[in-house]
Amino acid sequence: MSTSTWMNHRPRRLRRVEGIRRMVRETRLSVDNLIAPLFLVEGEGVREAIHSMPGQYRMSIDTLLEEVGRLSALRIPGVALFPAIHDEVKDEVGTEGLNAEGLFPRAIRAVKEAYPDMLVVSDVALDPYSSDGHDGVVRDGVVVNDETLGILAQMAVVQAEAGADIVAPSDMMDGRVGVLRDALDEAGFTDVSILSYTAKYASALYGPFRDALDSAPRKREGIPEDKRTYQMDPCNVREALRETALDLDEGADMVMVKPAGMYLDVIRRVREVSDVPVAAYQVSGEYAMLHAAGQAGYLDLEAVAMESLIAIRRAGADIILTYFAADVAEWLAA
Ligand code: PBG
Repeated sequence: MSTSTWMNHRPRRLRRVEGIRRMVRETRLSVDNLIAPLFLVEGEGVREAIHSMPGQYRMSIDTLLEEVGRLSALRIPGVALFPAIHDEVKDEVGTEGLNAEGLFPRAIRAVKEAYPDMLVVSDVALDPYSSDGHDGVVRDGVVVNDETLGILAQMAVVQAEAGADIVAPSDMMDGRVGVLRDALDEAGFTDVSILSYTAKYASALYGPFRDALDSAPRKREGIPEDKRTYQMDPCNVREALRETALDLDEGADMVMVKPAGMYLDVIRRVREVSDVPVAAYQVSGEYAMLHAAGQAGYLDLEAVAMESLIAIRRAGADIILTYFAADVAEWLAA
């Protein structure tokens, strides 16, 4: 029986062999899209495994440089650095974040000196330095916005002075992009870009990261127990568009959605309303879940990690911050 009259269309023709599949592929993942988040700690020769994030380490600056060297050889264009700060130097206003000789600026300088072409993305927020474990200053049980802004602005300038290419405010205070832009320009850093954590949700997926940095909100009287008065409600998407409009208006060079995998609709919507590059952060909990399933033998880690990242690209992200960055580079090269 001839089928031609009732079936002119056979989409399977374009899936027949890898050559055709490769030719008609709509979305690609390349190392060019990736930024590797890395954790820092004081000391020498330190490479402490982070239990809930297999393959991730807290590294002293010397060890960090080896890791950046490896990423550079893999052609990863950027690293996002996060410091684990000793409790003794934490205080309520995050003073250590302004110390030009502190761990973080020293690490930025070391990376830029050893690998000038590696882009350094620096984190602007109080939580690594805050004895309360919040991204802003806590006053009378409230994370206060405007007092925090001045500190964030100084922090961004310290990081720019150390050589950061891109400052990334992850704090979710209102008005911070504009304040950072002004402070950077005034200090002469007109070329330092701002990657704003535009739609950062109050997600349960940050647990492993907070363990890695010991940066979770402190369980104490007078300290808000979560970040829901500044990070976004996972139920909302229109609000993400409002945040996007504000960040673009304030001068953000790039906007970011975080987490990534459970917020693909948000990535898509943000992509549609902005003409700047859109980044997405595949966060610690996403990485931990995939690893846990891989370790249990329930899922093929490489296959599912690649699929998770393609999904984030397909949703519209140009740039992905992911703890799989080095793995992806190796998988793509294999
Ligand atoms: C805090 C910050 C967090 C992450 C990046 N910057 C955690 C938080 O908001 O509590 C999370 C990243 C991850 O989970 O991988 N400024």
